[in-house]
Amino acid sequence: MQSDKGFFGRFGGSYIPEILHASQQALLDAWNQARVDVDFLADVDRELQQYSGRPTPLTPCPNLTRELGGAQVFLKREDLNHSGAHKMNNVIGQGLLVKRMGKKRIIAETGAGQHGVASALIAARLGLECTIYMGARDIERQYPNVFWMKQLGATVVPVTSGGQTLRDALDEALRDWSADPSGSHYLLGTACGCAPYPEMVAEFQSVIGREVRAQSLQQFGALPDAIYACVGGGSNAAGIMLPFINDQSVELVGVEAGGRGPAPGDHSIRLSDDLGSPGIAQGFATMFLQDDQGQLMETHSIAAGLDYVGVSPILAHLNDTGRVRMTAANDDEVMHAFLALLRLEGIIPALESSHAVAGALRDIPAMSPDKKVVINISGRGDKDIFNVASAVKDAEFGPFLQRYLARELQA
Ligand SMILES: Cc1ncc(COP(=O)(O)O)c(C=O)c1O
Repeated sequence: MQSDKGFFGRFGGSYIPEILHASQQALLDAWNQARVDVDFLADVDRELQQYSGRPTPLTPCPNLTRELGGAQVFLKREDLNHSGAHKMNNVIGQGLLVKRMGKKRIIAETGAGQHGVASALIAARLGLECTIYMGARDIERQYPNVFWMKQLGATVVPVTSGGQTLRDALDEALRDWSADPSGSHYLLGTACGCAPYPEMVAEFQSVIGREVRAQSLQQFGALPDAIYACVGGGSNAAGIMLPFINDQSVELVGVEAGGRGPAPGDHSIRLSDDLGSPGIAQGFATMFLQDDQGQLMETHSIAAGLDYVGVSPILAHLNDTGRVRMTAANDDEVMHAFLALLRLEGIIPALESSHAVAGALRDIPAMSPDKKVVINISGRGDKDIFNVASAVKDAEFGPFLQRYLARELQA
C-alpha cells in the first residue's frame, strides 16, 4: 500500500524537528531509489534466504483444528527466522540500505528485545556500530535478549524516563538521531514513526504475506479465508496483510493487547473499542492512548512487544476504512492460547504472537470446517520463559534460579 506523501488517510506524515529534515530527506531519496533497484532487492532476497532462513513454512495444525471443531488452522512460522522473530526481515532491509547510504552507525529502540537482538545481529554482520535504547522496565522483563545484544557488541542504553517502556525508548532513539543525523541511521523496528518508515518497514515485512499467498495456493489451492496477526506497532500485521489488501474474500484481523482489563493504564488497546484517539507524537499522526489533556498514557501487556501507546498509521487507516477488523485479547486469554499451541502442536509461540492465536481461537469454532485460517506466529517464546514460568506458577523455576544465583555468587 503506497502512501500519499507519507499519509495513509488522516494518519502518518512527518512531524519532526528541523534538525532531522536533511537526513530524513536523504533516507527518503535512498529508499525511493533502492525500492525499485533490482540489485538491491536481490541482495535483500539473498540475505533473507541465506542468513535468515526464508521462506518460513506455513504449518497445518491438525490437532488444534480437531480440538476447536471449526475452520482449519495454519500457522505462518516467523518464529523460525534467524533470531526467532519477524523483526529480522526489516533489519536485513534497512541494514543493506544503511550500507548503501554509506553510514557507519545504527540506532535502534526495542520493547521485547527481539528488534534489539535483530539489530545487533545485522550490525555485527554488516560491520556497523550499534546503540540500542530499551526501557528499564523492559530490560527487567526481557533480560536474556539484553544479554545477547551486549554479547553481539551493541551498546544497550537503559531508558529510565516515563513508564520505562518502548515509547520512552523511542523518544531517546529520536533524540540520539537528532544529535548525529548525518552519521547515524535510526533503524526503527516497526511500521511507525515519520515517513518513510511506516511504508518502508511494511514493505520489508510484506515478504511474509507474499509467501503466505504462494504457500496457500500451493498447499490448499486457495487463498486463506481469514488472517490473524498481533498488533504492537503493527509491522508483522501490515507485513502479512498488505499483500491481501485487494482480496476482499480474505478477512484481516488485528489483535491488540487487552492486558489486565479495559481500565486506563492496564492495556494497549488503541484501535478496537475506540479506546485510542487521534494525535500527533513521536514524528507521526495516528491513534494514541492519551488522556483529556492529550498526554500519552501508560500501557500494559503481558507481552513487552505489544506495550506501545501508538500504532502504525497504516493499520489506523485500514481500521478507519473497515478493511481490517481490530479486536483485543487479555492476558488470561493469551496464556490460555499460548498453552493450547504448546500442548496441542508442540510449538512455543512468543507471548506477542499468542495474542493472534487467542483472537483466532475465539472465532474459529463458529467457522465452517472448509474455511482456512492463517495465524501469524510473529516470534518464538524462548525469550518469555521468565514471564511464563511465573504465569503458570512453576514450582521449580524459582528454586532453580536461586540455586543458580548462589553458585554464581560463590564462583
Ligand atoms: C515476537 C513479536 N511479535 C510482535 C511484536 C510486535 O511488533 P509489531 O506489531 O511491529 O509486529 C514484537 C515486538 O517486539 C515481537 O517481538
